[in-house]
Amino acid sequence: MAQPAPDTAPAPAPRHIAIIMDGNGRWAKLRSRPRTFGHAEGVEALRRTVEAAGDLGVEYLTVFGFSTENWRRPIEEVNALFDLLRLYVARDLDRLVREGVRVRIIGERNGLQADIASIINDAEARTRHNDKLNLIIAFNYGGQDELARAARRAAEDAVAGKIAPADINPDTFAKYLDTADMPPPDLLIRTSGELRLSNFMLWQAAYTELVFVDVLWPDFNKDALQSAIAEYHRRERRFGGSDPAKP
Ligand code: IPE
Ligand code: IPE
Ligand code: MG
Repeated sequence: MAQPAPDTAPAPAPRHIAIIMDGNGRWAKLRSRPRTFGHAEGVEALRRTVEAAGDLGVEYLTVFGFSTENWRRPIEEVNALFDLLRLYVARDLDRLVREGVRVRIIGERNGLQADIASIINDAEARTRHNDKLNLIIAFNYGGQDELARAARRAAEDAVAGKIAPADINPDTFAKYLDTADMPPPDLLIRTSGELRLSNFMLWQAAYTELVFVDVLWPDFNKDALQSAIAEYHRRERRFGGSDPAKP
């Protein structure tokens, strides 16, 4: 009979962790600096978190970088957020390629500036064969937008006779989502104390364990990630059943 693992053995990391990286603006305000300073520090927290997730054996890390609703912010701030994506890819892509990280971007690509579209395509193409950690960046992403785009494509396939409307069910519909070939998140972390999803992964988070932490995103680090994982392990996942069980 297998021996139980000793108490000291760290529990395995969840397979898929999603993070709403929130609180950059408040972090900057506390320091009397512009919001964009907080966003730049947020990129440092992202670097730390990607490394920590790889160390901990996470398979999928999804981060919310820019929402379809973030266009409501002043144009200078929107431009700064796009610049940070450019900078992150320019500075980190070679290292991500070397370290076996596969980069994918989810969200609406139509309407993005041409250079952003080519940066995204290049990052995905250059890391396509990597398999250590999947880093999924939600950029120009909104859960409602993703669902509407998926519904539109399913309707187009139905009109074209490729599928029958009766074939649409949760399993077949999920294949039209941006996350088609990814498992749903096991754990979703939101920083900065806000208790909402803000249009993130509305379909995929159906049975995700939600962990809200007060730490502002630029202060997030491996310790904070590990304590969120520890909280996840204190939860009992049921998936609608009456006993703790796997789906
Ligand atoms: C998160 O920080 C970054 C993005 C939304 C892009 P915020 O900019 O939302 O920071 P707060 O919530 O105003 O503090
Ligand atoms: C969600 O945070 C979007 C990202 C983290 C990219 P917001 O700061 O935009 O969310 P709300 O507006 O507070 O709900
Ligand atoms: Mg915010």
